[in-house]
Amino acid sequence: MLITGRTRLGAVIGSPIHHSLSPALYNAAFAAAGLDWVFVAFDVAHGLASDALAAMRVCGFGGLSVTMPHKEGVFANVDVVEPAAAALRSVNCVVPLADGRLFGCSTDGDGYVDSLRADAGVDPAGRRIVVVGAGGAARSIVDALARAGAAEIVVVNRTADKAHDTAMLAGHVGRVGEFGDIEHADLVVNATSIGMNSSEVPFDVSLLHAGQTVSDIVYQPLRTALLEAAGEREATVHDGLGMLVHQAVHQFRRFTGGVEADPLVMRAAAMAELAHRAIPAN
Ligand code: ATR
Repeated sequence: MLITGRTRLGAVIGSPIHHSLSPALYNAAFAAAGLDWVFVAFDVAHGLASDALAAMRVCGFGGLSVTMPHKEGVFANVDVVEPAAAALRSVNCVVPLADGRLFGCSTDGDGYVDSLRADAGVDPAGRRIVVVGAGGAARSIVDALARAGAAEIVVVNRTADKAHDTAMLAGHVGRVGEFGDIEHADLVVNATSIGMNSSEVPFDVSLLHAGQTVSDIVYQPLRTALLEAAGEREATVHDGLGMLVHQAVHQFRRFTGGVEADPLVMRAAAMAELAHRAIPAN
């Protein structure tokens, strides 16, 4: 890679950030597309999102990805916000407009739906869906599934008032439900962090059966205990790396003004990075 005075900079901000897969994903995709860009990660302390945006303006970053804990802080400090991101009050992607203003959008939900279609072969239109969880990830998924024409979106969450707020994002197709609703769903999404680096499952897996699709947003491990159980019960399984990759495809298109990233290149780069980390350092 030759870095020159013309090389464009993309970055992700978050805290902690050193485990981010984004540099691996984006640098692989920039190289595959033959674009003169580099992508790095900055650990930005909680509360300093507006300073990071000031740095972006002054230094002329080509694009900014945003992760925990800055999605709300960036939402509050960009100049223009896409409607879907305004509904979520959350921004995960910032690009400079031609007039210098910063534009913010949210690509997580659309990335999930794209991955569902591309990786699991499932179109959410007309489907009965249960989403378990009501955090930031769940909210973006519910919003995007509703826009994609889901027939019903049932939100189940430990904390009831958050379930209500999340279900409201789906308008007339949204409601709060309970785990028993899983049995009657076409698609079940684990949008909690349960299962991350553990063998826990978010609900009783005996509710799952053939004919259903089960998505997990957790991708460490890639085959979570939930997906393992869903596969054993002959449901179609959809892993969490697809959402990460496809939301990045959306961001890449925004950063570059319309260039399409190859999701297979991004996925391979993420898998290689995860495999590399699994090898103990000596
Ligand atoms: P993210 O932005 O990644 O979605 P988050 O906003 O912290 O993260 O949301 C995490 C989700 O996982 C929430 O729905 C949370 O439930 P609460 O709203 O009740 O906090 C859910 N979650 C995490 N750990 C959980 C656990 N042990 N049992 C049940 N739900 C859990």
